[in-house]
Amino acid sequence: MATRRLRLGLIGCGGLSNGVLLPALSVIDALDLVATCDLREDAARTAAERYKAQVWYTDYRQLLARDDLDAVMVVAPPAVHEAAGIAVLERGLHLYVEKPPAMTAAGARRLADAARDRPVKTMVGTVQRHVPVNRMAKAITERAEFGRVILYQARYCCPGPGMRMDWGMRRDDDADMVRFFMLDHLIHHIDLARYFLGEIVAVHTTRSATTGEQYALVFSLTFANGVAGSLTAGFRSPSFDNQVYLLGDGPASVQTSNWTRLIYHPPQPPVGQGGYSDHPAVTWDGGISYQNGVIRPGYREELELWARAILEDGDCHSTVEDGWRDMLVIDAMVESLNTGRTVEISDE
Ligand SMILES: NC(=O)c1ccc[n+]([C@@H]2O[C@H](COP(=O)([O-])OP(=O)(O)OC[C@H]3O[C@@H](n4cnc5c(N)ncnc54)[C@H](O)[C@@H]3O)[C@@H](O)[C@H]2O)c1
Repeated sequence: MATRRLRLGLIGCGGLSNGVLLPALSVIDALDLVATCDLREDAARTAAERYKAQVWYTDYRQLLARDDLDAVMVVAPPAVHEAAGIAVLERGLHLYVEKPPAMTAAGARRLADAARDRPVKTMVGTVQRHVPVNRMAKAITERAEFGRVILYQARYCCPGPGMRMDWGMRRDDDADMVRFFMLDHLIHHIDLARYFLGEIVAVHTTRSATTGEQYALVFSLTFANGVAGSLTAGFRSPSFDNQVYLLGDGPASVQTSNWTRLIYHPPQPPVGQGGYSDHPAVTWDGGISYQNGVIRPGYREELELWARAILEDGDCHSTVEDGWRDMLVIDAMVESLNTGRTVEISDE
């Protein structure tokens, strides 16, 4: 029996769409790109022609006026995410929206409110939780042998980010740049921490005192389940460094590294005294060359999950509700940085 294909519209045909999402769509049978839209007509037309969509638009309201769409992806600047995302939901269509879902937590909440009580599947493109090694690590932490997680530690260093000038923030304003770093990059890691351990209820931020433009941010995290954790971030580092480490009282540990590697230390029988013995590790490296090397890990997986959830009425994450909760954590991190105090996070 042939699988039903979902008729899809795409709003925003820029760098991420062309570099990653459209190539990923092209290998997912369940998603059938029907229409594209971009303010720049050449971008909308080129994407439509290259990926065999029937039609292109320069105004997303025209795309949403079609009566043959099941689902829409919004991959534009965040201010557009909120407005277009709400318009998609009000049309009763399933929504994939890139991160950040809005420029503010209040905007992200409006998007989440628009999805509530509607029979739609939503996803925010916080891709780290869909990266295969992170999914594997999560499954490992849920094994009985891993025990209870007692420590979460993550590190993310990157050469950027370069300010996106269409987000309405200033490159020469330090406060804007810090918030931009969080909205553009660290939101992935905040979402990843919530994926592994659930809600974050308190944060404390410290920043290294530097004279140059490089600096580090260290976020202490307290999870609702009582686990202590941290996220360390390097701004303008020489290269990407993307790590997660979880320690369980099995005792066992699992770590993932740079999107492709996983190291698992399963529980071992006690070996002698002194406490310095190494335990054997299981390592796995998925590489980046699968799907002919055109798709970085996680993007195909997130879109497949979204499509499957729509077709089978299954579970979907990270939803626009997750996106709103990620934004609440960002606000708390910024407040802690500015006040020097630990900030508690509540829904209100
Ligand atoms: N998940 C990830 O790993 C990841 C990586 C990069 C970017 N992103 C996110 O994806 C989004 C897009 O980033 P990008 O790098 O593709 O940016 P981009 O500027 O290259 O592309 C955005 C496109 O949206 C179009 N656009 C703007 N307003 C529009 C409107 N009202 N209607 C239709 N089209 C409109 C622009 O013309 C442009 O072509 C951003 O929110 C960014 O944060 C996510």
